[in-house]
Amino acid sequence: MDSTLGIFNSQNALTDAGQGAAQTLWLTWIMTAAGIAIFVLVMGFIALAWRARGGGRTWWIVGGGVVFPVVALAALFAASTVVLRGIAGHMDAPHVIEVTGKQFWWDVVYDPEGRALRDSNEIVLPLGEPVEIRLKSADVIHSFWVPSIAGKMDMIPGRVNRLTVTATKAGRFRGQCAEFCGLSHPLMAFEVVVLPPGDYAAFLASLDGEARDAVTPTERRGAEIFQSAGCIACHRVRGLSEARIGPDLSRLGARAALGAGMWEMNTGNLAGWIADVGDMKPGAQMPSYNHLSGPDLRALVAWLESLT
Ligand code: CUA
Repeated sequence: MDSTLGIFNSQNALTDAGQGAAQTLWLTWIMTAAGIAIFVLVMGFIALAWRARGGGRTWWIVGGGVVFPVVALAALFAASTVVLRGIAGHMDAPHVIEVTGKQFWWDVVYDPEGRALRDSNEIVLPLGEPVEIRLKSADVIHSFWVPSIAGKMDMIPGRVNRLTVTATKAGRFRGQCAEFCGLSHPLMAFEVVVLPPGDYAAFLASLDGEARDAVTPTERRGAEIFQSAGCIACHRVRGLSEARIGPDLSRLGARAALGAGMWEMNTGNLAGWIADVGDMKPGAQMPSYNHLSGPDLRALVAWLESLT
């Protein structure tokens, strides 16, 4: 398997594109600086104690062993408490996105209590506006982590965890499952796309209504194979199927990645995926469709790519 895992190459906890990430980064630098200062001080105290040995200067023990740790640890505790409250603090967010972790992909529903617009493996956020992300799991414990924007929070079966994020930079950012959830855990990534608010509204509108109709004869043949070969039993495509066992494919052709952030979305990878998914992503629960003829496979791929 020649994986292109990490095609976005932008998973970086030291760059911030969201409020939570900025606060976490600030705390990281405070902790690092304090750690260095404490190390230097302790080494200094040891040197002084060595020089003063036998002198009976108990105030070094009281000062260096009691007062200094109490003051230093209390200050660091206060700093981390302030940051944690800021990150976990619940604000009234104008947008809600429900993300459900599954082995080994992500089910995404925008506005779950309203229009309930469904997608998979890609999360679009509006720039500069708070979004409440409701985190769920359908099977085992996963963890939602987008280091550049916010994170990380576990997704636990039977409960809903809430994370409020505000993206502060437009662009594409890699997210990753951060809790071991099975053999393909490292292959469970996703992409976050931050759009200006107007483009975000247009994106949501594009998820409403039926998917684009097959236009060319090849695409029409592909849509037929999607139904006759059984893909329709697991995958949702707007206007055609409401199945929810596998990822939603209604805008598959518009996504940048295939297989939950694993491969670049292109014709060759998509055909390879359908024909031999076990080779493309070990542990994926989809069966391989290597019995499809070449022309049928090409037609199916052409139709799937037309879904945008
Ligand atoms: Cu899902 Cu690790």
